[in-house]
Amino acid sequence: MKSKASAPAKVILFGEHFVVYGVKAILCSINKRITVTAEKISERKISISSEIGKLILEPDKSILEINSPLKPFYYLANKAIENEDTGIHIEIDSEIPLGAGLGSSSACCVAGAAAIFKLFRKISKEEILELAIEAERTIFENTSGADCTVCTYGGIMEYEKNSGFKKIEDEPNYQLIIANSNIEHSTQSMVSKVKEFKNKNKEEFFKLSNLESKLVEDVLKLVKENKIEKIGEKMNQNQKYLETLGISNNQLREMIKIGQESSFGAKITGSGGGGCVFALTDESDLQNTLKKFKDNNYECFSAKIDFTGLNTF
Ligand code: PMV
Repeated sequence: MKSKASAPAKVILFGEHFVVYGVKAILCSINKRITVTAEKISERKISISSEIGKLILEPDKSILEINSPLKPFYYLANKAIENEDTGIHIEIDSEIPLGAGLGSSSACCVAGAAAIFKLFRKISKEEILELAIEAERTIFENTSGADCTVCTYGGIMEYEKNSGFKKIEDEPNYQLIIANSNIEHSTQSMVSKVKEFKNKNKEEFFKLSNLESKLVEDVLKLVKENKIEKIGEKMNQNQKYLETLGISNNQLREMIKIGQESSFGAKITGSGGGGCVFALTDESDLQNTLKKFKDNNYECFSAKIDFTGLNTF
């Protein structure tokens, strides 16, 4: 018997970096997915196969001994067969670019937890999310859990460090154009860079955080009123604050300029320094915005907000 599950990628729409210091952020999941297929095998081994490689290991190894981006899957499979006389084979199929800040590892953990544990028993979304966050901690110890949460439940949500997550019930029909700089980015080093900025410019950082807080509250109203053009303007404003924090660079600025000139607004998504930018459009200027990025040789694709979240088959 095979068990299959898929989970979506995510985009941080507003509030990255400031969220680390208590400002509210807005995230959404998008219709690019990772699909995980799990199956019991007679040999007591854990075998994982994906386009980034293969991992075949005996169960009960310490997670600290494993040096592979596939280790969250090992963690989950090992936990699932703890008291079972079976092995597991896992196949991963992904439409999500890797290492681009679009949450591919969280989607892996959520779809992995669902596909693997469903081989043995019925399991709720809440428990899948808990297992996925545990698995993600094997690679990002300090994960806030926001990415796993949005890709489990889907849609748009607010996230605040102290009070957690709140789903936004509206289902707007935005088109997002996501362009990948293909510059590798490290969330950790960008978060450290912002910390340095904050320590050197205490007053300015305090002012920027207040401005960002106000901007996020304005956006939440605009989402309810479905005022896409105004939301685009807020994205451009948010990008200015991110520029001030020092997480942009010439290439990202060039990409954002293309997005801002052809759509309602554009900004970095995630930690910056590389990774992706996104532009906000609707059907009317979707093709034009895509063409502008492509004409400038940028890897890009269009995405819509996903309102399904985790899917199991
Ligand atoms: O890892 P990314 O690129 O999705 O960005 C993480 C978002 C930050 O706000 C920069 C860090 C965080 O932990 O919230």
